Amino acid sequence: MKIDLSFSQGQLDEMQLRDKNVVVIDVLRSSTSIIAALQNGAREVIPVGSIESAVKISGSLFGDVTLRGGERNGKMIQGFNLGNSPLEYSEAMVRGKSIIFCTTNGSVAMVKSRYARLLAVGAFVNLSAVVDLIKSLNSDILLLCAGRPAQAGGFSLEDAVCAGMIIQRLTQEKSLSIQLSDASLAAQSLTKSFGRSILKMLKNTDHGKYLIEIGFQKDIKVCAEVDSMPILPMMIGTSIRLRKDGTASVDKNAATPVA
Ligand code: MLT
Repeated sequence: MKIDLSFSQGQLDEMQLRDKNVVVIDVLRSSTSIIAALQNGAREVIPVGSIESAVKISGSLFGDVTLRGGERNGKMIQGFNLGNSPLEYSEAMVRGKSIIFCTTNGSVAMVKSRYARLLAVGAFVNLSAVVDLIKSLNSDILLLCAGRPAQAGGFSLEDAVCAGMIIQRLTQEKSLSIQLSDASLAAQSLTKSFGRSILKMLKNTDHGKYLIEIGFQKDIKVCAEVDSMPILPMMIGTSIRLRKDGTASVDKNAATPVA
């Protein structure tokens, strides 16, 4: 099994991701918010690449069961019901709801991965569930860090450290035969340097500092808690959901994961 990694999505397009097994990682905060939404009973999260798409899609759905969530510059988009804080995706807010989800990097990476063979959503909060998925898949995988916009350099330390931690766990599995790309080796080394205190690392990243500055200090703590939400959101058709049986196993021959 080859584990490849992309530190940002900027250079990638849908065709390059087609037919790959992909885990999209956006620790701060898209992946964590999606995981929180599904953990709290949301029916599905539908990632979109632009505010225009969010408005168009939600217009054709029933208002009382559909919410619009997402951010620009970390803050709720005007006219939306929810921002991108995992704390907003509470059970009272999201149970039974479909959420149209639009963020700067995370949802864009998920949309780009829509023709992937398999797409899972990963973060620190569901780290072991992602590791279990990759173990059971035992097939080539791409860890796609959502990263930052190209003008901000594309790279985000928190996504790279999370990806490196997944790799670290996998390389400890004696039963797996693993090949690491250069980027995977680099991420693993970042995890050795910065993974000891995830909370401290998150607080010191560019985006972490920005989130604290705009009042989302509490989100950092939620996003730092390893395995606090042990579920595995996966793209099924055009929406991200939980498998009905709650397991992380996949049908390796299926074009999309079995619902
Ligand atoms: C993104 O998709 O760029 C992020 O999740 C931004 C945020 O923290 O809201």
